[in-house]
Amino acid sequence: MKMQFISAALLAVCISQAAVAEESLLWALMTPLRQKELVPVENKLYKQECGACHFAYQPGLLPGKSWQKLLTHEALLDHFGEDADLDQEALKEIYDYALANAAEKSYHKRSRKIAISTAEGEPPLRITEVRYIKRKHHDIPDKMIKGNKKVKSLSNCNACHTEAAEGVFDEDAVSIPNYPKY
Ligand code: HEC
Ligand code: HEC
Repeated sequence: MKMQFISAALLAVCISQAAVAEESLLWALMTPLRQKELVPVENKLYKQECGACHFAYQPGLLPGKSWQKLLTHEALLDHFGEDADLDQEALKEIYDYALANAAEKSYHKRSRKIAISTAEGEPPLRITEVRYIKRKHHDIPDKMIKGNKKVKSLSNCNACHTEAAEGVFDEDAVSIPNYPKY
């Protein structure tokens, strides 16, 4: 009887530890469902239109509430200083695709982290403003990003993440141009 109590107590401690690591008990229990990395872009129109000026950011890199703000005619007319507006039909397809595949809709590792990181507060309009993403790049010196002709901006994910298009952002697939040893 006593042993049973001790093992139950131990189990409870283990679960609560796991819960802290995963940030919620539910997610700790659902870990087997969690998948690696991030879903690559599968929609042709999205890839074409949203990959025309920069890396085609996977919808799983931002929560739905961010895509809702970014993907309106009004917002796209002044999209970070550029006109990226789309016709009605294309906007609908891209909006629906982004919302259906937003961070909180995915079991993939990076999307989970981003969904948790953006659950509270104003929706970020940039991936580079997501707390989790900021934290991961915090230590990289400015000269390797802004001062680096082959990178220029942290927004150019694929300049350093060699498998970004496949949705892989793992440290093992990172190589900063001009700083191969970083
Ligand atoms: C006409 C060019 C152009 C098109 C087309 C375009 N963008 Fe952008 N986008 C930009 C520029 C410029 C920036 C700012 C880049 C920077 O600060 O380095 C940007 C930034 C972004 C960012 C923020 C990146 C960050 O810093 O985290 C997101 C998200 C984004 N675009 C999504 C989209 C989506 C989705 C589409 C398709 C509907 C799209 N863009 C189409 C020019 C464009
Ligand atoms: C200047 C090069 C550079 C650019 C540009 C860049 N990253 Fe990174 N990123 C890195 C490095 C280096 C690391 C590894 C940091 C560390 O030591 O943990 C990293 C780590 C990450 C991680 C965590 C990986 C892990 O294994 O924990 C994610 C997720 C990530 N980056 C996403 C992005 C996204 C999304 C973009 C674009 C919006 C981006 N990065 C742009 C260099 C870059």
